[in-house]
Amino acid sequence: SNIKIFCPATIANLNCGFDVMGLCLETIGDEMIFRKSPTKGIKITKITGAELPFEIDKNVAGVAALAILNNYEKDFNPVSFGIEIEIHKKIKTGSGIGSSAASAAGAVFGVNEILGKPYSKSELVHFAMKGEAIASGSEHADNVTPCLLGGFTLVRGYDPLDIIKIESPNELFAVVLHPHIEIKTSDARAVLEPMISLKNAIKQWGNLGGLIAGLYMKDYEIISRSLEDVIIEPLRKGLIPNFDKVKNSALKNGALGAGISGAGPSIFALCKGSSIAKNVAKAMENTYLKTNIPFDIHIS
Ligand code: HSE
Repeated sequence: SNIKIFCPATIANLNCGFDVMGLCLETIGDEMIFRKSPTKGIKITKITGAELPFEIDKNVAGVAALAILNNYEKDFNPVSFGIEIEIHKKIKTGSGIGSSAASAAGAVFGVNEILGKPYSKSELVHFAMKGEAIASGSEHADNVTPCLLGGFTLVRGYDPLDIIKIESPNELFAVVLHPHIEIKTSDARAVLEPMISLKNAIKQWGNLGGLIAGLYMKDYEIISRSLEDVIIEPLRKGLIPNFDKVKNSALKNGALGAGISGAGPSIFALCKGSSIAKNVAKAMENTYLKTNIPFDIHIS
């Protein structure tokens, strides 16, 4: 029998939480289908929506699926069947909303279901990171965690992996504008500086603490003040045409905060309530229409 799953897009970083904060988007995502087959091993049988390799060791979903399957055989029993995977991409690669994470998280989730759910969600995050690593060149979990757990998530620590699901206020809406240019995560990480000033570190961890507190207190003012990034955004925003203009139009029209989604180029805004989100989306859209770069925009 088939298992068909939805693999949601995600916003990583959320300005003040580089490599640790993430948010799951409800309305954008890929689809994957899994089925048992008599031939042992993992096989990708169909890919639509993107040009991706079918070779297991070159495909994000393939690597992640193999990581969990190999581990299962080590931890439990040899598996007597194989697993076939179909990948139907809706999230564009290099868009900044966790395309590779959706494939990696989807693959481990699907394989875990086929195996009879031997692993917990946090163990799945660990396997999904293996797939994410081949796409971005670094093993970060800030997209795969919200993709698997939903809502807001915090990666409190990487060694050992310690993930926490964060309470989220239900009036929050995310607007995501995706300019149709591609930014590789590895390129967006190459512009970062390895050292940061104590002054900026203090601002950033104050904001991250504030964001978490604001989410738990459902205090939109605190959330708004905390959605600031003094470390990563200044170095990356030059990679995204018209970033400042779009961000300012979102803020002027009532967004709580706005910034780079993941490694970019997508630009996100968080809003309180759907009518503000609609106004913000309109304003961001109008701003981007003045450029000649095609884009799409979503509210989630
Ligand atoms: N935290 C990562 C980054 C997410 O910003 O580089 C991108 O995949």
